[in-house]
This record gives sequence, C-alpha cells and structure tokens, in this order.
Amino acid sequence: MCGIVGYVGPREPTEILLKGLKKLEYRGYDSAGLALFYEGKIKIKRCQGKLSQLEQEVQNSRYCATPVQNHFVGIGHTRWATHGKPSERNAHPHQAGPIALVHNGIIENYASLREKLLSKGHAVSSETDSEVVALLIYDHLKSGCDFEKAVFLAIQELIGSYSLGILCETEPNKLIAVRNGTPLIVGVGDHENFIASDIPALLEHTNKFIYLEDHEVVVFEPNSLVIKNIAGKEIKKEIHHIQWTADMVEKGGFQHFMLKEIHEQPQAIINTLQDRVVKDKNVLYLKDLKLSEDEIRQIRKIYLVACGTAYHASMVGKYLIESFARIPCELDLASEFRYRDPLIGEKDLLIVTSQSGETADTLAALREAKKKGAKVISICNCRGSTIDRESDSTVYTQAGPEIGVASTKAFSTQLVVFNLLALHLGLTLKTLTPEKAAPYVQDLVRLPYTLDEVLKKEPEIKRIAEKFYKKKTFLYLARGMNMPIALEGALKLKEISYINAEGYAAGEMKHGPIALVDEDTPVIILAPKDKYYDKVLSNLEEIKARAGIVIALGSEGDLHLPKVADWFIPLPQKSENVMPILLTIPVQLIAYYIALKKGTDVDQPRNLAKSVTVE
Ligand code: G6P
Repeated sequence: MCGIVGYVGPREPTEILLKGLKKLEYRGYDSAGLALFYEGKIKIKRCQGKLSQLEQEVQNSRYCATPVQNHFVGIGHTRWATHGKPSERNAHPHQAGPIALVHNGIIENYASLREKLLSKGHAVSSETDSEVVALLIYDHLKSGCDFEKAVFLAIQELIGSYSLGILCETEPNKLIAVRNGTPLIVGVGDHENFIASDIPALLEHTNKFIYLEDHEVVVFEPNSLVIKNIAGKEIKKEIHHIQWTADMVEKGGFQHFMLKEIHEQPQAIINTLQDRVVKDKNVLYLKDLKLSEDEIRQIRKIYLVACGTAYHASMVGKYLIESFARIPCELDLASEFRYRDPLIGEKDLLIVTSQSGETADTLAALREAKKKGAKVISICNCRGSTIDRESDSTVYTQAGPEIGVASTKAFSTQLVVFNLLALHLGLTLKTLTPEKAAPYVQDLVRLPYTLDEVLKKEPEIKRIAEKFYKKKTFLYLARGMNMPIALEGALKLKEISYINAEGYAAGEMKHGPIALVDEDTPVIILAPKDKYYDKVLSNLEEIKARAGIVIALGSEGDLHLPKVADWFIPLPQKSENVMPILLTIPVQLIAYYIALKKGTDVDQPRNLAKSVTVE
C-alpha cells in the first residue's frame, strides 16, 4: 500500500512526480504529497484526498522546484492509511528539521521510538509511524552525522517494513532510498535516475530497472547512483530491460482501466499461451517451470496459497491439478497459512499465486514453506517482484500491467497457467494420456477466440446490470470447478459497487444463503451443461419456488434454462477446464456495469488498494 516516486536529474520534477504518482494511485489514494527544493529549501505540498486534489493545489499555488547546481531532486507519495486517519497532517512527505521523507510499509516499533524521541525533546506533528523515521534521521544528524550516516544509523533501529525516499536540506543534491519488506525499484535514465514502488510509474521515462533487495540503500547524486548493503558496502546490481511500454498503462479509449483490462483478456491469454503450447501436437512447454520429471514424481502434496482474486484462481487450480494429475492439493488463504503451523515439508510443493508478487501475506507464506524445506513455485505477473525472486521458479502470467484495483486479466491468465501446469503434471505423471489431454489443450488454444465471442454478450449483460443495480443483495451459485467463479463474481461486485454479494457452492445454498432469497434478490447461477447441470438446475428451481430472480449463465443451445431462468446469457459450451474462464467474463462485466450505473469509483474503489504490502 502507498506509492512512492523520486527523481534526481536535470528536469524540473513536479510533473514527473505527479504523473508517476498517478500511475501508483492504485496503491492508495486517500492523500498525497510532494517535496522539492525551492531556492535551496525543502518545500512540501500535501493534500487529503485523491491525487487530483494535489494536482489542483500545485497548479493554484504555482508550486515548483528550482535547481541546485543545475539539478533537481524530489520525492512524492500517495497514501493508503495505516497509522492515523487520512488528513493533510498525516499525509507524506513528513518533515523533521532538514529531513523530508516518504514511506511505504509499517514501522512496528514506532511507539517506543516515538517515546524515546519525545523524551529527547523532539516534537511530533502527525499520528503516523512514518514521521518517527524522519525524526530518527534528524536526531542522528543533530549528533553530528552526515545525511548518509544518519540514514544508516536510523534504519538499524527500525523494526517492520519500509521503503523510503529521503531528502536532506543540508545536502540538497542527494536522494537516499531504502528498501526493506515493501517494493521499491530504481529506474535508470539518461543523466537522470528515479525510484518508484512499481514499474508503471516510470515507463514514460525508461525501461531500464534495478530491482532492489531488502536492506539495500541507494544514494543518488546527479549522474550517479551507488547501491549499498546494510553494512554500508557498495554492491553491483544488474540492470534489467523490460518490454512493457508506456501506452500499456493508459486507458486506450476505455472509460476505465477495468473495462480495458476485461477486453484485453483474449490478447493476455494469447501472450500467456505463446511458446507454451504447440497447437497441432498438443504438446506443452513450460520452460520457466524448473521441476524435473523426477521432482514431479516425488511430490507428496501441493499447497496452493494466495489472497483475494488470486485465491479464487488457486481454488480452480486445486480442481484442475487433482483432476488431471491426481496429486492431493490443499488450499489456504495466505493470511492463515503460516499461523496454522502447516504440515508442509520437503516432499511438498507450494504454489503461490500473485498478480503483483508483493502481497505481504503471500510472501510470508512462501517464506514459511521454504523454511520448512518445501519447493516453491509462483504464478506471478510481475517479473522482478519479491515473490518472483524468492520462488524456486516462476511461471509468468503475461497479462501486462494491470491497473484497475479489481483484478480481471490477471485472474483469467492465472487460470490459464493453472491449466498448463495441471496438464503438464498430468502428462508427466501419465495420469493423463495425450489423447485424453487433446480436447483440453485444444479448447485452451482456442480460448482467446472463444472469449471474443463471449465479449460480444456485453450489451445484453449491460442491460441486465442496469435493471438490477439498485438491489441490495446478490447471490452467486455454482458447483465444481465453476464454484470459485461464483466466489469471484461476488467479490468483484462487492469490491467495486459496495453491494452485499455472496458467492456459494450451490450445494451449500440450503445451509444458509437460501434464507436471503426473496423477490428482491437476484441470484446469478452458473449452469453450463456439465456433470453438475441437473443438480444446479434443482437449486435454480428451489430459488424460483421462493420467488428469487434468476440470472443464469449457461450453454448455447440449452432450451430448458431460458424457460426457467428470468434472464439467460448463453455461452459457448467447451471442455470443463476452460468453462471457469468463459464464465469469468460475464461476472466481471455484470460487476462493472452495476458499479458504473451506481456511479462508484470503478478503478479505485473505497478503502481498497491493488497491492496489499502490509499484513
Ligand atoms: C488485493 C487486490 C486484489 C488481489 C489481491 C491479491 O486485495 O485488490 O485484486 O487479488 O490483493 O493480490 P496479488 O497481487 O497477490 O494477486
């Protein structure tokens, strides 16, 4: 949570920082701020509310920087409140004497540090944990240290997670950045350098990046950057060239990133399948999966761990792996995994799934499993992220940058990777013959074209959404491999429209949720023609008997469903492995159009953040 940007170079940085923050707004958007040098003095501008407030203030007050020896240095921050409510005084940057600082993370020992600093006569002006770090550095400066030394001494005292961008008025040509536990990358430009919490913030300026590890400190000066470890020893790091381009993080004519990303799914899936499937031969190549045949044979159990939407993808993954490879799987929410002292060991495999590769709980689960000797594979969308780097191998989803807070294309590409993985494991273990795998592989290969067909249902789905957007409760029901899509549909609707929505296994309906059903409750039933069809139909009848409104997503050519459901959206009938992906599109669109009609902030729903980097 929270986004950081920083700049050192010859250009006046106000716009660079604001534009960078705009691309990081998905990380938090309750207040924002900048710190720049103006005639040798640090000038801070902060605002409660979205970044647009700050932009307005900057414009109204003609806030800008002046160079120090032909160079500019600046930092910016967009906040997702942890300690202290959203307000101007809790917004970053925080100032303490000559120090200005932006922080992402949580300082766990901030209360004791604050006591210590107060007893030394320092004044505290915010409710945040972050201000304490600025004060701590200031305290070391006062005792005679230079800027760099003061930063090194201060971070030795911190417990918790922190990415920091720090300026010092007495050394105005320097920016110091620190990474520990929350993401921070260095962008390398021509005679200019940057820091940011995430790559999209800097794509307009560079595609050369250095991924920092925990406890690394970067000292930027005009035309130079030096990276040091916590002991102060200089280290050399590789510069990575990445393929993402600046227009990938623009809306491209769509009203929202979410809608753009829903429509990008066929292409994202083409990219995810590319070089991994040989169409006519039904052969799979998962080059990035570093698991030998022998290692696959020795797997005792697979643990699937993730948060949010990625958890729902993992739930589909469990069905796929157990069905194709017959390896027992356990599914865990990442936030629960380590606290239940899981019985994972050397013979087990952990698969963590994460769009961002930075989710704190997922990362902690990964570390727990490694500590216990398990091998770790990640399914991840962000190369160079912490989860990517700490996994034994990563199978990448090639979704491209996802900006909308509600995950869409990352989810469908995660489902594609789980398909590839399950088929690969099954073929290797011979629980699946190539003949049996063929229709599954074929439907996977054709999936982008099938999804194009599903996307054509958009006007119909929009009409349904506009009819029901005022309803207070929605239910989503499904069975088998499609059940996680009921959960995901409900999550999407809740996240962006703030409507109470419950996703359930249809078989559980009679154990509680049926009590919610009345003539005012739309029930979205996922009922393709599969082995569960008859059972789902019985559940549908039970809802109708209680006057519920049924919106059914089913198979083209089904003549019965349109008769018994109030609304029917026909979808192409494909093999069971791809049906969850087909069903995903309508539930995403229903949520989107309901939220649009309600007028909520689709891309940045209240209280949420895209990347949850604190526990
Ligand atoms: C947040 C986001 C969700 C996402 C979840 C896990 O809650 O709002 O969209 O599914 O985090 O994120 P990850 O990056 O690990 O997939």
